[in-house]
Amino acid sequence: MAATVSDTLLDWYDKHARELPWRARPGVPPTDPYRVWLSEVMLQQTTVAAVKPYFAAFTMRWPDVAALAAAPEEEVMAAWAGLGYYSRARNLVKAAREVAALGRFPDTEAGLRALPGLGDYTAAAVAAIAFGRRAVVVDANVERVVARLFAIDTPLPAARKAIRERTDAVTPDSRAGDFAQAMMDLGATICTPREPRCLLCPLSETCEGRRTGEPTRFPVKPAR
Ligand code: ADE
Repeated sequence: MAATVSDTLLDWYDKHARELPWRARPGVPPTDPYRVWLSEVMLQQTTVAAVKPYFAAFTMRWPDVAALAAAPEEEVMAAWAGLGYYSRARNLVKAAREVAALGRFPDTEAGLRALPGLGDYTAAAVAAIAFGRRAVVVDANVERVVARLFAIDTPLPAARKAIRERTDAVTPDSRAGDFAQAMMDLGATICTPREPRCLLCPLSETCEGRRTGEPTRFPVKPAR
């Protein structure tokens, strides 16, 4: 079962992955931790469409972590203007300076988690995507996909424990970064909040939420 979900999803990802500037793709060098980290921090609370021009501007102006570490904080803050949640930019500079002092990015989830501005999600995402670590990556999209896939009946926020366990159980040992990004792409393009496109979904055959006839009931909202 676990193998089936990840194999099926990875096959789908190989054909349908969104082309995003921070992703590795044929002809582009292997995933650079700096670009993965920068994109994941920008994508916290911000849409892919809003992030793209900022990501392009930042990587043009500060092409690597050493360049960003050497930048005056107020210049980074000014370049961040419009993206919102400015503590992200302050932490970005702090983390860049720590990485520059270390001489390299930490390459484990725990090491990344210790950097300013890297929460559970971001540390797991960077460990998996940039370093190929097997990490359990759960953002809001993954939460919705997994809650539906297993028809998890517990309301949020208590459901998060079961969602994490289920995500762990379906995460493959290899290609965990692609798997995480496949889950996110599936949630963003197919398993959308209000009108999921189940007919196009590679996991529809195994989806317990779909079998209930009411997949949008999951994840179950908190009682109020
Ligand atoms: N949202 C946050 N990080 C993402 C990623 N790496 N791919 C797709 N959507 C994302």
